[in-house]
Amino acid sequence: MGAFSHSHSALMRPSRLDGRVAVVTGANSGIGFGTALGLARLGARVFLACRSEKRGKDAAEKISKMLEQASGEDSDASAAGDEDFVNVAGSADYINLDLGSMESIDDFVKAFEKHVGSEDETMPACDILVLSAGVNSGGAAMQNKGNSVLTSENKDSRNKMFQVNFLGHFYLARRMLPHLRAAGTPSSPSRIVCLSSVMHNLAGTNDGKSFIDWDAVASSPTANPYAETKLALHMLAYEINRRLRARDAQPCIFAVPVNPGAVASGIWRNDSACTKWITDRAFISITQGAQPSIFAAASPSVVTLNPENVYLAPYVPLFDWVDTQWVYNSVHPLLRGALVRLRLLESLVSPLAPSGGVAISAPSSHATNVLAAQRMFDAASTLAGLPQTLN
Ligand SMILES: NC(=O)c1ccc[n+]([C@@H]2O[C@H](COP(=O)([O-])OP(=O)(O)OC[C@H]3O[C@@H](n4cnc5c(N)ncnc54)[C@H](OP(=O)(O)O)[C@@H]3O)[C@@H](O)[C@H]2O)c1
Repeated sequence: MGAFSHSHSALMRPSRLDGRVAVVTGANSGIGFGTALGLARLGARVFLACRSEKRGKDAAEKISKMLEQASGEDSDASAAGDEDFVNVAGSADYINLDLGSMESIDDFVKAFEKHVGSEDETMPACDILVLSAGVNSGGAAMQNKGNSVLTSENKDSRNKMFQVNFLGHFYLARRMLPHLRAAGTPSSPSRIVCLSSVMHNLAGTNDGKSFIDWDAVASSPTANPYAETKLALHMLAYEINRRLRARDAQPCIFAVPVNPGAVASGIWRNDSACTKWITDRAFISITQGAQPSIFAAASPSVVTLNPENVYLAPYVPLFDWVDTQWVYNSVHPLLRGALVRLRLLESLVSPLAPSGGVAISAPSSHATNVLAAQRMFDAASTLAGLPQTLN
């Protein structure tokens, strides 16, 4: 069962990121865009890792304009003697990244090295890696009714959602480890932020007795492939922390899973008109949904939390009891979906969150299951053609 600590955001405000380098996947829209903007406002040099050149460049330009505008306002405030004016803003640039293709991820890493590398040939450093890109099939496609989100578009014939949401991110994080190591120190570790979701609770059997067959998930759509990709990404954060700590007593990288909440973004585009009507009206804004990722990336206090069950969310976590194994084992399987959706209602009470909020949430017990995470990591390593040992 996860730890039920509910301390709140005032304790762990993000700090300035001047001179820091950040990469945000899927940064041309939604939570990724909000996160990239937030990090750049804190002073970071942000790389928007997006699959479409046009959408990526447009987003980088939009952020640059917003930063310019903010810096104009800051100079006015500074000239007027306002002590609280915001420091110098960061920057935003686009680099191509299609998570559906391992070759594209390799190309992204090379391009990143070129952009950030210096003449003295030291390892190009990356302080923050936010794994935000994602696709969701919508309810109909969960039964694999030919929705393009599930149709394989890669030569390895992998389930596309699994490839984009999880395996591509897994491969990218592993490829970026040397750069994250180059930036972090034990007292100020670099960060990997993994976008989880309440939906991760619906992955697999949830009975705690059988393990997910990741080879099967990778090749053929299951009952709820989105949930499985979110569970895998969530477990990845804890497993990276465990493996880094097993290797190094004072690791200089810290991985954090976050739940952005129920956010009115493009992720619902494949859902029914009725769902979209609700999400547009009832769900929290992209700015609010980006807060857990920004805190996870930039708050100094986050790294003092337990690396095996840290989990940030934008809500006062009213329904954490829903995530316990006891509840899952006690209810009929058909009711589990309804219970998970109950957590979406937290968005309606999010204004109650103190200081506009980010809360420390309780991860579910299947996200903190060590053996399950080890098996997932080993299976993903094989699928990605990487060694199982983190070196
Ligand atoms: N919205 C929510 O309520 C919610 C709740 C829980 C978790 N999340 C998670 O939050 C993350 C962000 O989602 P969002 O709500 O911001 O959705 P969104 O607005 O649809 O943004 C998704 C982003 O992922 C990008 N993307 C899709 N396929 C890609 C690929 N092959 N390579 C690179 N980038 C790709 C998209 O780029 P294109 O524009 O090119 O498609 C887009 O920029 C996702 O991981 C999602 O699972 C969202």
